[in-house]
Amino acid sequence: MKFGTKAIHAGIEPDPTTGAIMTPIYQTSTYVQESPGKHKGYEYARTQNPTRTVLQNNLAALENGKHGICYSSGLGATDAILKLFRPGDEIIASNDLYGGTYRIMVRVFQEFGLKFKFVDLSNPANLDGLITPATKMVWIETPTNPLLRLVDIAAIAAITKPHKIKLVVDNTFASPYLQNPLDLGADIVMHSVTKYLGGHSDTVMGAIVLNDDETAQKLAFIQNACGAVPGPQDCFLVLRGIKTLHIRMQRHCENAMKVAQYLQQHPKVSQVYYPGLESHIGHELAKKQMRGFGGMLSFELKGDSMPEAVRVMESFEVFSLGESLGGVESLCTHPASMTHASIPKEERIKNGLKDTLIRLSVGIEDIEDLIQDLERAIG
Ligand SMILES: Cc1ncc(COP(=O)(O)O)c(C=O)c1O
Repeated sequence: MKFGTKAIHAGIEPDPTTGAIMTPIYQTSTYVQESPGKHKGYEYARTQNPTRTVLQNNLAALENGKHGICYSSGLGATDAILKLFRPGDEIIASNDLYGGTYRIMVRVFQEFGLKFKFVDLSNPANLDGLITPATKMVWIETPTNPLLRLVDIAAIAAITKPHKIKLVVDNTFASPYLQNPLDLGADIVMHSVTKYLGGHSDTVMGAIVLNDDETAQKLAFIQNACGAVPGPQDCFLVLRGIKTLHIRMQRHCENAMKVAQYLQQHPKVSQVYYPGLESHIGHELAKKQMRGFGGMLSFELKGDSMPEAVRVMESFEVFSLGESLGGVESLCTHPASMTHASIPKEERIKNGLKDTLIRLSVGIEDIEDLIQDLERAIG
């Protein structure tokens, strides 16, 4: 099956009771048993829920994986992955990460004895010398948030595999429509489903997809033991959202490319970060690793003036200023004070994230209106 057909059909059967084509919202906390332990496979909704099962199977199919597990948020999924490790275990993560991922690693799991090293993994050679017998996981985002750097998944996997180090890829920015990390050698794919998968800015959810049975069993245990499950109504909303993922992503990519090209020639713009531009440092890798360049981009204004960056962000009429990304509506974010505020300033600046960087999640509105909005706001 090709991607669009999978998005609409994979893992989804008509409801066995009524034939309903849309998976029902099984809004129940428990399931009646005939006699103790004799049931239809469902006991309690923290452990399993039929709406969730269908979504998990659909997501697994989209990522070409065997097991899908959904969580109450993207960070709920990250939390579950980090609980696979023990005090003293070392984790190497790329230094251009979503701020919340950095925060849960440093402010929560470091306190429990996990050890983290943050490094620029856009050059896989930077892994050399960092791997020790205690290294258990490498965590990457690609494209990264918010600088849209590319990390070569296959090259990193070639380094981690012989050491039996788990390679986790946060695939939120690309979505499975543009990139399938498991096919490139990753062990675990993680998503903030809140973003492109949900696609309509109405749900917070996370997901993990993987092939390894043993790790999947451990994750299912952690989920049931710790409880970070999504509700059935949210699962329904995401199942519905995914049915148009391929169409939405096509328009996100088209619009973002036009916005990037517009910004690149703008006299007041000094820098545009978009993997679709030939000038982007990761352009060739993006062509090799992805099936399109995505809907996310960041830019800086000439002069690096903070008041000017704020003025532009306040002047948008179609782009809304807000956290998050990947919805049908265009959003503008100030990473330094919003999504990445939890990363210490010196760390941020060292990694290239300036206070004046503006990030855009380019939606699927008419491109003429988006360009006009940029024209008006930047001046
Ligand atoms: C790349 C990335 N990963 C993970 C997360 C966390 O996901 P959630 O907000 O669903 O917990 C986000 C949220 O912005 C994100 O942008």
